[in-house]
Amino acid sequence: MSTSLGAVSMHEEGLIPATDVAPGAAPDFPVPEPLDSHGPARVIAMCNQKGGVGKTTSTINLGAALAEYGRKVLIVDFDPQGAASAGLGVNAHELERTIYNLLLEPRTDVREILTATSTPGLDLIPANIDLSAAEVQLVSEVAREQALARVLRPVMDDYDVIIIDCQPSLGLLTVNALTAAHGVIIPLETEYFALRGVALLVESIERVQERINPRLQIDGILATMVDLRTLHSREVLERVQEAFGDQVYTTTIGRTVKFPDASVATEPITSYAPTHSGAHAYRRLARELVARGDAP
Ligand SMILES: Nc1ncnc2c1ncn2[C@@H]1O[C@H](COP(=O)(O)OP(=O)(O)OP(=O)(O)O)[C@@H](O)[C@H]1O
Ligand SMILES: [Mg+2]
Repeated sequence: MSTSLGAVSMHEEGLIPATDVAPGAAPDFPVPEPLDSHGPARVIAMCNQKGGVGKTTSTINLGAALAEYGRKVLIVDFDPQGAASAGLGVNAHELERTIYNLLLEPRTDVREILTATSTPGLDLIPANIDLSAAEVQLVSEVAREQALARVLRPVMDDYDVIIIDCQPSLGLLTVNALTAAHGVIIPLETEYFALRGVALLVESIERVQERINPRLQIDGILATMVDLRTLHSREVLERVQEAFGDQVYTTTIGRTVKFPDASVATEPITSYAPTHSGAHAYRRLARELVARGDAP
């Protein structure tokens, strides 16, 4: 975790907005209309094979923000590290049954594995280290790329949005996430090597789209850990916008220690520090998704 002195403490106080609007952006998005009924879910894979770019943080906090707006949200922890489970207060290491059992034991009922979280409207399918074996075991299965899509099918009508927190790899588990998804959000840490590896990720997405899942699209690129007061951060953001144009969300996520703090507290930032700029940033992202039609 980087903590660079005075600037960070101002972020901690929420004095410097952790949401910054990208240049030329629309000022804001309307608060989503309440939904009369729920489902079918739009499935979003939070994906980048680079580690530590904000996938899990974005999964948890976007999920919680959408739930605050009355959406029924399911988070799928799809990383053997179990960070999304831990961040939502679920001690997955002690669980006997997780996403692993759903993938490899087709008779397991998804409703018995998923669990409510402390955030109303936000449920979780937990993962633990067992999932690391699934990658190998799935290889010999029939329709091995479709295992996660099959797991989610029975609950598609129960949720408005399902967010899959991918592990930092482009292996079979990630291919399963891309096969189950309608859209992909690619979080990018705003630093010089942010774009390194993104071409490979886009290629993988295109390959899944051509061969298995024609509806798959890249929903957007999310700039995370932005610090617009630094030239460095602004330059990287400009380069990302040059490369991806309209695909870059106008909402960016500022760098603030409130995010790691919230994970330690095992809560989304929207409830841990509801008025903090980091909470506002993810709420704005949720509004942007709904405005763009990427979430109901
Ligand atoms: N906007 C932010 N400002 C400051 N710290 C952040 C921010 N977003 C995430 N972090 C911290 O950075 C670290 C990595 O974030 P996170 O776990 O969300 O990334 P990830 O892409 O899921 O990582 P992995 O690839 O290991 O799964 C965590 O300690 C998290 O608390
Ligand atoms: Mg993660």
